Amino acid sequence: MASEQSAAFDQIGRRYDESFVERDAQLAEGAWLIDQLDRPARVLDLGCGSGLPTAKQLLDAGVEVVGTDESAVMLDLAQQQAPGATYLHRDLRDLSDLGEFDAAVAFFSLIMLPKADIPPLLRALHARLRGPKLLQIAMVLGDFDQFQISFLGVPTQVCAYPPDELRQVLADAGFEIVELREVAAEAEPNRLEVQIYLRARAV
Ligand SMILES: C[S@@+](CC[C@H](N)C(=O)[O-])C[C@H]1O[C@@H](n2cnc3c(N)ncnc32)[C@H](O)[C@@H]1O
Repeated sequence: MASEQSAAFDQIGRRYDESFVERDAQLAEGAWLIDQLDRPARVLDLGCGSGLPTAKQLLDAGVEVVGTDESAVMLDLAQQQAPGATYLHRDLRDLSDLGEFDAAVAFFSLIMLPKADIPPLLRALHARLRGPKLLQIAMVLGDFDQFQISFLGVPTQVCAYPPDELRQVLADAGFEIVELREVAAEAEPNRLEVQIYLRARAV
């Protein structure tokens, strides 16, 4: 049975890319990651959505991508817009049988989890990283958990951390922060939000 969150993104579908066009900061994160990776390299894109911009950016740079998402509609878009990755229709908390990765990225996907699920997921990811052992995440700035919002007119739930608390959650899971930056962006028409982009390395 589809969860509430996947049902939300099944409804949002193509409108996500059409509305959230301000992706310069995320593209800069992808460019940094591409620069850090020797080839061959394998990256896990957690909650990969429509494959834009990140899966496509990595694939174009010759990086192997495994994308997971629980929305069949978003995965269909990813297959069309960023072909060449392995896309798996599954909960992003399920890392079973995925093997190891040089890096994992989770851009605006951990925000959809209850906070209680994030530390165990980070520890599980830590165990799957090899080589440069990089992790990049994007969140929104705030301090709430399972907070009901309307995103593009569809009800969904999100969480957010203040920056210092987010740093601590990562540190507790065995990551050192490489960089954390805050960026103001329009995530949907006429709604500015402060986003957090974080680069970390498993130690
Ligand atoms: C805000 S979108 C972000 C998509 C993409 N990472 C990006 O940068 O545009 C969140 C994505 O996470 C997916 N998602 C939310 N909760 C999930 C879960 N528990 N397991 C797998 N995917 C999930 C949604 O279906 C959606 O595609």
